[in-house]
Amino acid sequence: MNVIIFGPPGAGKGTQSKNITNDFNLVQLSTGDLFRKEINNKTELGKKIETLINSGKLVSDEIVNNLIEDIILNSSISNKFLFDGYPRTLPQVYTLDKILKGLGQKISIVISLNVDQQVIIKRINGRIICTKCFKIFNEYFNPPDSKDHLCKREFLEKRPDDSAKTIINRFQNYISKTKPILEYYKKKGSLCEIDGNKKIDEIYDRIKGILNNIRH
Ligand code: AP5
Ligand code: MG
Repeated sequence: MNVIIFGPPGAGKGTQSKNITNDFNLVQLSTGDLFRKEINNKTELGKKIETLINSGKLVSDEIVNNLIEDIILNSSISNKFLFDGYPRTLPQVYTLDKILKGLGQKISIVISLNVDQQVIIKRINGRIICTKCFKIFNEYFNPPDSKDHLCKREFLEKRPDDSAKTIINRFQNYISKTKPILEYYKKKGSLCEIDGNKKIDEIYDRIKGILNNIRH
């Protein structure tokens, strides 16, 4: 199965992706993580997109579509992608459908995390990520633990795009360009909306139930 985990910035997509990939033999494909790696490695692409991302704008569909096509077509992974933060616009949705169709695959389900805005703001304010292993933590809800996280503390940082000003742009883009794609998946019958305001484990239990149903 191919799964999309969907939701606004800070909804918990990355956090839940880690749980899902551990239990369901899926491979996470997060465009945000891919872009942050490009920026960290100071590649040509990284230099091109750094200002865009840090100001909360979307990377162009052309760049995203080419990157994704390249990864899916050149990968040995088949029918087990977990897409996180992608697709984010209708042109990205159509491109993904086309690529998957060409491989005889499809999106099995879109799990959308519905989270209230004030909850999201608190989550984003508390977020810390490890720039080495990319684990996601939270000062308030999910602090880094030395048993769980073996990298040095100096790798723990705030994301540059988690500033108050950038968050506003990210939300606006979400509302105007990303949220509308839900309608497409709803019409296809592949949308499943869940309450993302709950605790990490409670949300994951719900996701587990949904994915177990598809698998069997
Ligand atoms: P991306 O990295 O995808 O950012 P995003 O979509 O804004 O989502 P986030 O990663 O901010 O949030 P999340 O839902 O993963 O939440 P998390 O699990 O971390 O993209 C970054 C940028 O790259 C974009 O703005 C854009 O510029 C560009 N980009 C990426 N993809 C693109 C595309 N396809 N097209 C164009 N441009 C693209 O959780 C947040 C915090 O909350 C954490 O601290 C976590 O510990 C905590 N938390 C999570 N769940 C809970 C819970 N249930 N209770 C309490 N705390 C929780
Ligand atoms: Mg994320």
